[in-house]
Amino acid sequence: MGEESAPLRLILIGGSLRSHSVNGAVIATIADMVPAGAQAVIYQRMGELPHFNPDIDRDPLPEPVADLRETLLRADAVLLSTPEYAGSMPGSFKNLLDWTVGSSGLYGLPVGWINPSAQGGAQDTYHALRIVLGRAGAEIVESACADIPVPRDAVGATGLIEPVEIRSALRQPLQALLAAAKMRQGSRAERSL
Ligand SMILES: Cc1cc2nc3c(=O)[nH]c(=O)nc-3n(C[C@H](O)[C@H](O)[C@H](O)COP(=O)(O)O)c2cc1C
Repeated sequence: MGEESAPLRLILIGGSLRSHSVNGAVIATIADMVPAGAQAVIYQRMGELPHFNPDIDRDPLPEPVADLRETLLRADAVLLSTPEYAGSMPGSFKNLLDWTVGSSGLYGLPVGWINPSAQGGAQDTYHALRIVLGRAGAEIVESACADIPVPRDAVGATGLIEPVEIRSALRQPLQALLAAAKMRQGSRAERSL
Protein backbone atom coordinates (compact mmCIF):
# COMPACT_ATOMS: atom_id res chain seq x y z
CA MET A 1 0.00 0.00 0.00
CA GLY A 2 1.29 3.49 -0.88
CA GLU A 3 1.81 6.14 1.76
CA GLU A 4 -1.01 8.63 2.23
CA SER A 5 -0.05 12.08 0.99
CA ALA A 6 -0.25 15.10 3.28
CA PRO A 7 -3.33 17.31 2.87
CA LEU A 8 -2.88 19.93 0.17
CA ARG A 9 -2.32 23.32 1.71
CA LEU A 10 -4.23 26.00 -0.18
CA ILE A 11 -3.40 29.61 0.69
CA LEU A 12 -6.22 32.07 0.01
CA ILE A 13 -5.41 35.76 -0.40
CA GLY A 14 -7.92 38.56 -0.87
CA GLY A 15 -6.74 41.86 -2.34
CA SER A 16 -9.11 44.16 -0.42
CA LEU A 17 -8.66 45.51 3.11
CA ARG A 18 -12.30 46.61 3.26
CA SER A 19 -14.49 45.02 5.91
CA HIS A 20 -17.42 43.27 4.18
CA SER A 21 -15.24 42.94 1.08
CA VAL A 22 -16.77 40.95 -1.78
CA ASN A 23 -13.32 39.55 -2.58
CA GLY A 24 -12.98 38.61 1.09
CA ALA A 25 -16.33 36.82 0.81
CA VAL A 26 -15.01 34.88 -2.19
CA ILE A 27 -11.99 33.83 -0.14
CA ALA A 28 -14.13 32.84 2.88
CA THR A 29 -16.54 30.90 0.66
CA ILE A 30 -13.76 29.01 -1.07
CA ALA A 31 -12.32 28.14 2.37
CA ASP A 32 -15.76 26.86 3.34
CA MET A 33 -15.89 24.60 0.26
CA VAL A 34 -12.45 23.04 0.38
CA PRO A 35 -12.93 19.26 0.14
CA ALA A 36 -11.40 16.57 2.32
CA GLY A 37 -7.76 16.05 1.41
CA ALA A 38 -7.09 19.77 1.34
CA GLN A 39 -6.66 22.42 3.99
CA ALA A 40 -7.50 26.09 3.42
CA VAL A 41 -5.49 28.85 5.07
CA ILE A 42 -6.80 32.40 4.73
CA TYR A 43 -3.90 34.86 4.70
CA GLN A 44 -5.04 37.85 6.76
CA ARG A 45 -1.98 40.00 7.31
CA MET A 46 -1.78 42.01 4.07
CA GLY A 47 -2.45 45.25 5.98
CA GLU A 48 0.54 44.64 8.29
CA LEU A 49 3.15 44.38 5.55
CA PRO A 50 5.51 47.37 5.37
CA HIS A 51 5.85 49.20 2.06
CA PHE A 52 8.18 47.16 -0.08
CA ASN A 53 11.70 48.54 0.02
CA PRO A 54 14.75 46.54 -1.09
CA ASP A 55 16.69 48.16 1.79
CA ILE A 56 14.64 46.16 4.32
CA ASP A 57 14.48 42.99 2.23
CA ARG A 58 17.27 41.39 4.22
CA ASP A 59 17.75 39.58 7.52
CA PRO A 60 16.27 40.17 9.97
CA LEU A 61 13.19 40.56 7.81
CA PRO A 62 10.20 42.51 9.15
CA GLU A 63 8.14 39.87 11.00
CA PRO A 64 5.03 40.10 8.74
CA VAL A 65 7.26 39.59 5.67
CA ALA A 66 8.96 36.56 7.23
CA ASP A 67 5.50 35.21 8.09
CA LEU A 68 4.23 35.75 4.51
CA ARG A 69 7.23 33.97 3.02
CA GLU A 70 6.96 31.10 5.52
CA THR A 71 3.25 30.77 4.68
CA LEU A 72 4.06 30.52 0.98
CA LEU A 73 6.94 28.14 1.57
CA ARG A 74 4.47 25.71 3.14
CA ALA A 75 1.84 26.19 0.39
CA ASP A 76 0.82 23.69 -2.26
CA ALA A 77 -1.28 26.23 -4.17
CA VAL A 78 -2.50 29.83 -3.94
CA LEU A 79 -5.86 31.29 -4.88
CA LEU A 80 -6.26 35.06 -5.24
CA SER A 81 -9.23 37.39 -5.50
CA THR A 82 -8.76 41.12 -5.88
CA PRO A 83 -10.80 44.19 -6.72
CA GLU A 84 -9.72 46.86 -9.17
CA TYR A 85 -9.00 50.39 -7.97
CA ALA A 86 -8.51 53.15 -10.52
CA GLY A 87 -7.73 50.74 -13.33
CA SER A 88 -5.33 48.42 -11.54
CA MET A 89 -4.89 46.24 -8.47
CA PRO A 90 -4.98 47.90 -5.03
CA GLY A 91 -1.57 49.18 -3.92
CA SER A 92 -1.65 47.06 -0.77
CA PHE A 93 -2.11 43.89 -2.84
CA LYS A 94 0.63 44.83 -5.30
CA ASN A 95 2.82 45.52 -2.26
CA LEU A 96 2.20 41.96 -1.04
CA LEU A 97 3.10 40.59 -4.46
CA ASP A 98 6.27 42.70 -4.55
CA TRP A 99 7.37 41.04 -1.31
CA THR A 100 7.08 37.64 -3.01
CA VAL A 101 9.35 38.55 -5.96
CA GLY A 102 13.01 37.78 -5.42
CA SER A 103 12.24 35.23 -2.69
CA SER A 104 11.09 31.66 -3.25
CA GLY A 105 7.63 33.20 -2.66
CA LEU A 106 5.29 32.12 -5.43
CA TYR A 107 7.98 30.48 -7.53
CA GLY A 108 6.69 27.25 -9.10
CA LEU A 109 3.46 27.35 -7.09
CA PRO A 110 0.16 26.64 -8.86
CA VAL A 111 -1.87 29.87 -8.69
CA GLY A 112 -5.42 30.65 -9.73
CA TRP A 113 -7.80 33.55 -9.23
CA ILE A 114 -11.44 34.49 -9.00
CA ASN A 115 -12.46 37.87 -10.38
CA PRO A 116 -15.82 38.68 -8.72
CA SER A 117 -16.24 42.09 -10.41
CA ALA A 118 -19.35 42.84 -12.43
CA GLN A 119 -19.35 41.27 -15.93
CA GLY A 120 -16.33 42.47 -17.92
CA GLY A 121 -14.88 44.39 -14.95
CA ALA A 122 -11.35 44.51 -13.57
CA GLN A 123 -9.80 43.15 -16.78
CA ASP A 124 -6.83 45.53 -16.57
CA THR A 125 -6.16 44.33 -13.03
CA TYR A 126 -6.14 40.66 -13.95
CA HIS A 127 -4.00 41.41 -17.00
CA ALA A 128 -1.52 43.16 -14.66
CA LEU A 129 -1.79 40.31 -12.15
CA ARG A 130 -0.83 37.84 -14.88
CA ILE A 131 2.31 39.88 -15.61
CA VAL A 132 3.28 40.12 -11.93
CA LEU A 133 2.70 36.41 -11.33
CA GLY A 134 4.85 35.68 -14.39
CA ARG A 135 7.69 37.75 -12.93
CA ALA A 136 7.27 35.96 -9.59
CA GLY A 137 7.63 32.61 -11.37
CA ALA A 138 4.19 31.32 -10.37
CA GLU A 139 2.58 28.56 -12.40
CA ILE A 140 -0.70 30.12 -13.54
CA VAL A 141 -3.33 27.37 -13.78
CA GLU A 142 -5.57 28.66 -16.56
CA SER A 143 -8.54 26.46 -15.65
CA ALA A 144 -8.35 27.90 -12.12
CA CYS A 145 -8.67 31.53 -13.32
CA ALA A 146 -12.29 32.59 -13.58
CA ASP A 147 -14.49 35.66 -13.89
CA ILE A 148 -17.43 34.92 -11.60
CA PRO A 149 -19.47 38.08 -10.94
CA VAL A 150 -20.57 38.33 -7.31
CA PRO A 151 -23.05 41.12 -6.51
CA ARG A 152 -22.78 42.57 -3.01
CA ASP A 153 -26.20 41.25 -2.04
CA ALA A 154 -25.01 37.69 -2.76
CA VAL A 155 -23.00 37.86 0.47
CA GLY A 156 -25.05 36.77 3.48
CA ALA A 157 -24.85 37.79 7.13
CA THR A 158 -22.26 35.08 7.78
CA GLY A 159 -19.93 36.69 5.22
CA LEU A 160 -20.32 33.75 2.84
CA ILE A 161 -21.73 33.83 -0.69
CA GLU A 162 -25.19 32.31 -0.62
CA PRO A 163 -26.66 31.81 -4.14
CA VAL A 164 -26.26 28.18 -5.13
CA GLU A 165 -25.37 28.99 -8.74
CA ILE A 166 -22.44 31.22 -7.69
CA ARG A 167 -21.20 28.67 -5.15
CA SER A 168 -21.40 26.02 -7.82
CA ALA A 169 -19.42 28.21 -10.28
CA LEU A 170 -16.72 28.72 -7.62
CA ARG A 171 -16.20 24.97 -7.30
CA GLN A 172 -14.77 24.57 -10.80
CA PRO A 173 -11.65 26.78 -10.42
CA LEU A 174 -11.15 25.42 -6.89
CA GLN A 175 -11.15 21.85 -8.14
CA ALA A 176 -8.88 22.72 -11.07
CA LEU A 177 -6.35 24.35 -8.74
CA LEU A 178 -6.38 21.45 -6.29
CA ALA A 179 -5.91 19.01 -9.18
CA ALA A 180 -2.85 20.96 -10.36
CA ALA A 181 -1.50 21.04 -6.79
CA LYS A 182 -2.05 17.31 -6.45
CA MET A 183 -0.09 16.64 -9.65
CA ARG A 184 2.75 18.85 -8.45
CA GLN A 185 2.75 17.10 -5.06
CA GLY A 186 2.98 13.76 -6.86
CA SER A 187 5.86 14.81 -9.10
CA ARG A 188 7.78 16.32 -6.15
CA ALA A 189 7.33 13.10 -4.17
CA GLU A 190 8.62 11.08 -7.15
CA ARG A 191 11.66 13.32 -7.51
CA SER A 192 12.49 12.91 -3.81
CA LEU A 193 12.45 9.06 -4.04
C1 LIG B 1 -11.32 54.22 -5.07
C2 LIG B 1 -12.03 53.16 -5.88
C3 LIG B 1 -11.68 52.97 -7.20
C4 LIG B 1 -12.30 51.98 -7.96
N1 LIG B 1 -11.91 51.80 -9.25
C5 LIG B 1 -12.45 50.78 -9.97
C6 LIG B 1 -12.00 50.51 -11.30
O1 LIG B 1 -11.11 51.15 -11.83
N2 LIG B 1 -12.58 49.48 -11.98
C7 LIG B 1 -13.56 48.69 -11.42
O2 LIG B 1 -14.03 47.75 -12.06
N3 LIG B 1 -14.01 48.95 -10.16
C8 LIG B 1 -13.49 49.95 -9.43
N4 LIG B 1 -13.91 50.19 -8.15
C9 LIG B 1 -14.97 49.34 -7.60
C10 LIG B 1 -14.40 48.23 -6.72
O3 LIG B 1 -13.53 47.42 -7.44
C11 LIG B 1 -15.55 47.42 -6.16
O4 LIG B 1 -16.28 48.25 -5.28
C12 LIG B 1 -15.14 46.15 -5.48
O5 LIG B 1 -16.29 45.44 -5.13
C13 LIG B 1 -14.36 46.40 -4.23
O6 LIG B 1 -13.93 45.14 -3.76
P1 LIG B 1 -14.23 44.66 -2.27
O7 LIG B 1 -15.72 44.57 -2.13
O8 LIG B 1 -13.59 43.33 -2.19
O9 LIG B 1 -13.62 45.67 -1.35
C14 LIG B 1 -13.32 51.18 -7.37
C15 LIG B 1 -13.66 51.39 -6.03
C16 LIG B 1 -13.02 52.35 -5.28
C17 LIG B 1 -13.38 52.51 -3.83
